[in-house]
Amino acid sequence: MSGTLPPPQVSLKDVKTACLSARATQFRPSPTLAITAKAKELKAAGKDVVSLAAGEPDFDTPGSIVEAAKAAIDGGQTKYTPTPGTPQLRQAIVDKLARDNGIEAGIDQIVVSCGAKQSLFNSVMTLVDPGDEVVLFAPYWMTYVDQAEFAGGTVKVVQTDPRRAFVPEIADIEAALSPRTKVVVLNSPSNPSGAVFDRETLEWLARKAVQMGFWIVSDEIYEKLVYGQRHVSVASLGGGILDQTVTVNGCSKSYAMTGWRIGYACAPKPVAKAMSSLQDQVTSNATSFAQAGAVAALSMDPAETERMRMEFENRRDLVCSLLAEIPGVHLEVPRGAFYVLPDFSAYLSGRISTDTELANFLLETALVATVPGSVFGAPGHLRMSYAASGDDIRKGVARIAEALSKPSP
Ligand SMILES: Cc1ncc(COP(=O)(O)O)c(C=O)c1O
Repeated sequence: MSGTLPPPQVSLKDVKTACLSARATQFRPSPTLAITAKAKELKAAGKDVVSLAAGEPDFDTPGSIVEAAKAAIDGGQTKYTPTPGTPQLRQAIVDKLARDNGIEAGIDQIVVSCGAKQSLFNSVMTLVDPGDEVVLFAPYWMTYVDQAEFAGGTVKVVQTDPRRAFVPEIADIEAALSPRTKVVVLNSPSNPSGAVFDRETLEWLARKAVQMGFWIVSDEIYEKLVYGQRHVSVASLGGGILDQTVTVNGCSKSYAMTGWRIGYACAPKPVAKAMSSLQDQVTSNATSFAQAGAVAALSMDPAETERMRMEFENRRDLVCSLLAEIPGVHLEVPRGAFYVLPDFSAYLSGRISTDTELANFLLETALVATVPGSVFGAPGHLRMSYAASGDDIRKGVARIAEALSKPSP
C-alpha cells in the first residue's frame, strides 16, 4: 500500500552491488526528519527559516525531571537495568495507568523502551505474522506502515473525513476488518490530524476486537494534549478488551522529553514477556538515568503538564485563526496533539501540483518548513506543528499567505 509514500531508499540494483539484505530495500528515510534536516541546513547557512515541521515540544524538560536524572547519575545509576525497566519506573507506570487511564495492570505487564517508537515496534513484531492484516486510520503516522511491513503484515487503510474531525465511520472500519485482521492501530489524539476518537467509536471497536479476536495497539503518546474533550483509553473499556490491547505511551510529548527516549507498553503478560525478550536482543534497557527522570515525570504535579497543554491550546487557536484567513485553505480545528493538517489542494496546479512540491516551494522561497500530507496518507494537505513560539507561528503563516498570494510560479 505504499503508493503515496516516498520510495525506499535503496533499489534492488543497489542491493546487489552493496550486498545489502533484501529487507534493507524496505527501509525508508523519515520524510519529517529529512525536511527538518533541510530546514536546519538552510538555517546553518544563515537563512531565517521558520520550522513548523518538528514533532517535538519547544519547551525545556521541567527542572524536577532534570534534577532527578542528575541525582541518579551522581548516585551511580549508570549501569544496566532489567530490560523491561527499573522496578521503580514500572511501578510508577502501573500507578499512572490506574490513576489517569483506568487501566489496572501488574508490574510484569510493563515494558519500558527507548521511546514509544520502540514500544510500537516491539508490539508489532510480537503480534504480527507474515500475511496478517494491520488496520490503520488515514491520516496515519508513517512509522505504523513501515513497522507493520517489516513484520510482514499487510496494511489496510481506513479513510477518514475532515468533516468528521478525522474520526472514522463505523461502517468504514467494519469494511476493513476480516478474519485475517490481527491488529488495529489506534492513535488518539492523532499525529498528524489531531483527531480524538469519541467513546462510542472506541466502545464499538473494543466489542468488535473481542468478538473477532484481533488486537488493538493503542498509541496514546499525545494523551495529555486534548482540547475540549476527554481522552479515553480503549483498554479501560471493560468486556475483555484489556486482554487484547497493548497500550503504548511515553514521556516524549507530555513532558517535553523527546531526547530522553523513554516509552513504554502495557500488555497482557505473555505479550509483555515476548516484547521484553525481543528487546533483550536489540537494545536491552532504556538509559538508566533517563528512567529515573521518567519516574519524576510520572509523579510530577499535574499543574505543570496542564500549563503546557493550555499553552498548546492557545497556539492551536492562533494558527487556526491565521490559516482561516488564507483564501482556499480548508481546515478542521484539531482536538488534540500539536499539529494542524490544512487542505491546500486549491493551490496545487501547474508546476506545483503535489503537496510535496508545495512543501519544497514553501521551504525554498518562503523559508517555512512544513511536512507534505502525502507522507501521512493525506495528499493535498500540509502538516504544520504548532509546537513553535507564537512569533514563529505568526511569521510562518504570514510568509505562506504571501507566497501563495503571488501568481503560480
Ligand atoms: C503518533 C506518535 N507515536 C509515537 C511517537 C514516538 O515517540 P517517541 O519519541 O517516544 O519514540 C511519535 C513521535 O513523533 C508520534 O508522533
